[in-house]
Amino acid sequence: MIKNDLFLRALKGENVERPPVWMMRQAGRYLPEFMAIKEKYDFFTRCQTPELASEITVQPIRRYRMDAAILFSDILVVPQAMNIEVQMKPNFGPYLPNPVRTPQDVENIIVPDVTQALDYVYNAIKATKELLNDDIPLIGFAGSPWTILCYCVQGQGSKNFDKAKAFCFTNPVAAHKLLQKITDTTIAYLKQKVKAGVNAVQVFDSWGGMLSPTDYKEFSWQYINQIIEALKDEIPVIAFGKGCWFALNDMANSNASALGVDWTISPKVARQLTNNKITLQGNFDPSRLLSPPNVIKQMVTQMINEFGKDKYIVNLGHGILPNIPLKNVDAFISAVKEYKE
Ligand code: CP3
Repeated sequence: MIKNDLFLRALKGENVERPPVWMMRQAGRYLPEFMAIKEKYDFFTRCQTPELASEITVQPIRRYRMDAAILFSDILVVPQAMNIEVQMKPNFGPYLPNPVRTPQDVENIIVPDVTQALDYVYNAIKATKELLNDDIPLIGFAGSPWTILCYCVQGQGSKNFDKAKAFCFTNPVAAHKLLQKITDTTIAYLKQKVKAGVNAVQVFDSWGGMLSPTDYKEFSWQYINQIIEALKDEIPVIAFGKGCWFALNDMANSNASALGVDWTISPKVARQLTNNKITLQGNFDPSRLLSPPNVIKQMVTQMINEFGKDKYIVNLGHGILPNIPLKNVDAFISAVKEYKE
């Protein structure tokens, strides 16, 4: 039994005293204790060493007592396990030296035995569960197949993922084969995470909003939905699509437990598009954490009033930025904890 189960109750749609709160990328560079570990160990060493990954995961919890922890890891460990080389270059981000560019490249990609290839993730989950001591739930995650394809084909971050889109639009058969291989790997991976002890999973579709509504259905949503269908009987699934407000109505008709929304949609319209029937998570503009603490507090209270305290998980609309002052994060979290209807 988890002592603070606000987050799990909100995922079930139950009434709560106040909404739960956590922040995407909460284990990250705005924390001095994170930077101290980052100075000593490179990115994938941090991900692959259970003692480091679990320590980094609980750092924000010690400081702010969020209502859920999210495992420190990365969405790109999945293509790595599929034998695609992924580097994390300092001051540059992800770099894949041998990107997927042809149908033959897709044929060469493997669907790995995830129990072995990603065993360090399950060990990190077990180590984190011990540190958390059942105080709060632990979230596991994966990238959406489309967002993973974006990196596999583009080879790095991008403003428009033009090479990834060109590949899908000129080689749709190969693109769908690749998306299916990523989907199959992701489903097996998330099931192992559940076995290792996570209490909910989130699928990050960070680049879904790059697609038109029609292309989104074809290249992203149908694969996310396969993941939801495969996991729904085992664990609550949160689907976060950045810039995907146009798909909210379809998403609300799925078996996801919650939908993540970004700050480009108002709470009112998000509730309308989802017919008020599913838990929503979000959607504070991460840059708004640069406002003075008293302004942050007012805005958070207003955001809760607009979403309503039930069927709602307070979060940012995307990951926290590295330059956010610690006292501003405190204002964000405290405003939720002090919330009174
Ligand atoms: O949320 C958390 O606290 C858990 C940890 C987490 C990380 N990456 C750690 C990380 C999560 C959930 C992710 C997911 C992830 N990774 C996404 C989806 C969410 C999103 O933000 O859109 C994506 C697209 C990636 C790929 C990725 N990893 C990028 C683009 C970068 C570089 C980002 C940058 O600003 O430089 C990373 C590196 C990364 N992953 C960092 C962290 C804390 C920063 C670099 C470091 O710690 O060395």
